[in-house]
Amino acid sequence: MARSFVQITDMTADEIWQIFDLCGKMKKGEIAPKPYADKSVGCIFHKASLRTRISFEVGIAQLGGQSLYITEKEINLGARESIHDAAKVLSRYLATIMIRTFAHSDVEELAENADVPVVNGLTDLTHPCQILGDYFTLLENKGKRDDFKIAYLGDGNNITNSWLNLAARIPMKLNIGTAADTQPDAQILKLARDNGISDIMLTDDPKEAVAGADVIYTDVWASMGQKDKAEEKARLLKQYQINDALVKLAHPDCLVMHCLPAERGREITDEVMDGPHSVVFDEAENRLHIQKAIMAFVMQ
Ligand code: CP
Ligand code: NVA
Repeated sequence: MARSFVQITDMTADEIWQIFDLCGKMKKGEIAPKPYADKSVGCIFHKASLRTRISFEVGIAQLGGQSLYITEKEINLGARESIHDAAKVLSRYLATIMIRTFAHSDVEELAENADVPVVNGLTDLTHPCQILGDYFTLLENKGKRDDFKIAYLGDGNNITNSWLNLAARIPMKLNIGTAADTQPDAQILKLARDNGISDIMLTDDPKEAVAGADVIYTDVWASMGQKDKAEEKARLLKQYQINDALVKLAHPDCLVMHCLPAERGREITDEVMDGPHSVVFDEAENRLHIQKAIMAFVMQ
């Protein structure tokens, strides 16, 4: 089976640090590997995307390759033919498959059956490229390794789950501020806690979550595929909005992060998003660099 990147826990801590190292060197232009020279990468999208689509397409070109944008209309994955058969056929044409879809199990099945690496570009359960890129952004801004204190506020979703997966590999203090009905995935939470390297706290009190934090992170309250629940989620989560009053409770040099797209005025205010603590556009830029590093790593 090829080396895939379906979730962060597919990598050891040492491998994650190798990816950060590669990412830094590629971003600075110290190395420029071309693992996809004369090769193609298929990018399957069953959900909308700005950052993921553009950063993968640009990154694949910079790695010497050609990218193909494939939507449900073309291959109708799992319906027109089995995921197994599609994986086998795609592996005959492509050097890597990137996929953004709904069911995480579809990406696992694709990776289990493909003979080339599969990279997860977001599922309902996880968004691993995003959180590796965000941790790289944190390292860049802080200029050192540390057991950073991360406060995630809002919906317990694919972003929260990916922070928990990272906490199973890199020591951190992870505070999740969310409501009783919007908790992250119980199995992923248990795995992160059982791993024992990070200190993980769940609280319904946003002030407790952000106290002294190095990073305050948020995401939309209703993810793709859940927009019909937007009003219900807004009702449950309105006290977790990141605004100036909340930022004042964190460390004075705290970073404010958001994976984007943001719904300004809901989970984050304009003052905070455009304010001095915000690194949201650095995070967006680093999607390009981290994904190049991930692709170079799985192609080694
Ligand atoms: N953060 C992120 O994945 O953005 P897109 O949904 O635009 O790809
Ligand atoms: N949780 C969001 C992340 C978007 C990048 C979603 O899944 O829609």
